[in-house]
Amino acid sequence: MTESQQSHRKDEHVFLAEKYFQPQAQAGFDQVRLVHTPLPETAVAQVALAPALFDWQWPFFINAMTGGSTQTGAINASLGRIAHACHLPLASGSQSVALREPDLIPTFTALRQADPDGFILANVGAGATWQQAQTAVAMLDANALQIHVNAIQEAVMPEGDRDFRWLDAIAAIAAHSDVPVIVKEVGNGMSKEALAQLAQIGVAYVDLGGRGGTNFAQIENARRAEPTAWSALADFGQSTVESLLEAQDSTLTVIATGGVRAPLDIVKALRLGASAVGISGQVLHWLIQEGEAFAQAQLAAWQAALPVLFAALGASDLASLRQVPVVLAPSLLNYANQRQLK
Ligand code: FNR
Repeated sequence: MTESQQSHRKDEHVFLAEKYFQPQAQAGFDQVRLVHTPLPETAVAQVALAPALFDWQWPFFINAMTGGSTQTGAINASLGRIAHACHLPLASGSQSVALREPDLIPTFTALRQADPDGFILANVGAGATWQQAQTAVAMLDANALQIHVNAIQEAVMPEGDRDFRWLDAIAAIAAHSDVPVIVKEVGNGMSKEALAQLAQIGVAYVDLGGRGGTNFAQIENARRAEPTAWSALADFGQSTVESLLEAQDSTLTVIATGGVRAPLDIVKALRLGASAVGISGQVLHWLIQEGEAFAQAQLAAWQAALPVLFAALGASDLASLRQVPVVLAPSLLNYANQRQLK
């Protein structure tokens, strides 16, 4: 694949993610009910939202999306300005293309330029060497590094990787990294077995990247000239909520991403064990449809809503939120039982 094809692929991902954007996601949040108390005995002014994660002020952030073409460089500049204005952490899209083609570096550094003091997460694939991972971190003066794992996306991509032996490379990157390393699925979720494997090789942070939001099997299938048997993978993997149940006993610090569409989804993910929550498709949708000012206003509205939701649930912080009783829908309970999860 030539580099111009790589840039085209980045533009296609943005176009197709927006084309298939679902305002109602299928990540499982509707299968989780938070039990209402009519006597919350908490005031909004008492709520402390900052997670025990890095130096973040908010328990959510704008997750990895793009870079690698002129158009996506402009999107990254917008995302950087939004993150800066809202004091939200921001993850870069995969920098692999810029490691191969230095001309494309400015389409990624646009993030850092727009958000000079913000918390920026670099992003590489699990096939990267530890030296490449360090270059990606240095490129953005990044505060943390995401390593994305995306076997289903690669499987459906005609030009995708066919070698999914990633643990050694992840272990090497984690061992050499000066910044925290987060292993991140891109939308097919995690299992308790995989979480145990990651813990064993010294990874401390995971982004569950569950099914139900942006769907890369669908996006990659749409990029093929002919729809293929791969469409069977369109519904594959664990939803974000199922992945949170998989992580109940994990020793890793958990971030949840996938199909987050509302502040209440964030609250539910935090209740089920997430330390923070990532949002991608929804932010892209606001940005493309309504522009930068609108996207920023929406995120500010979420920031205003979160402490109100916490207080209404009787929670003044993450620890007390975790005490709110939950009721799971039968299908979710069935999943937890068959998987012998708590
Ligand atoms: C992504 N995502 C992603 N993730 C990653 O680790 N590296 C990447 O390069 C990309 N690229 C990318 C492009 C576009 C256009 C989108 C919308 C998303 C995945 C993203 O970080 C997130 O895990 C999923 O999109 C699920 O979250 P949402 O979109 O359902 O909120």
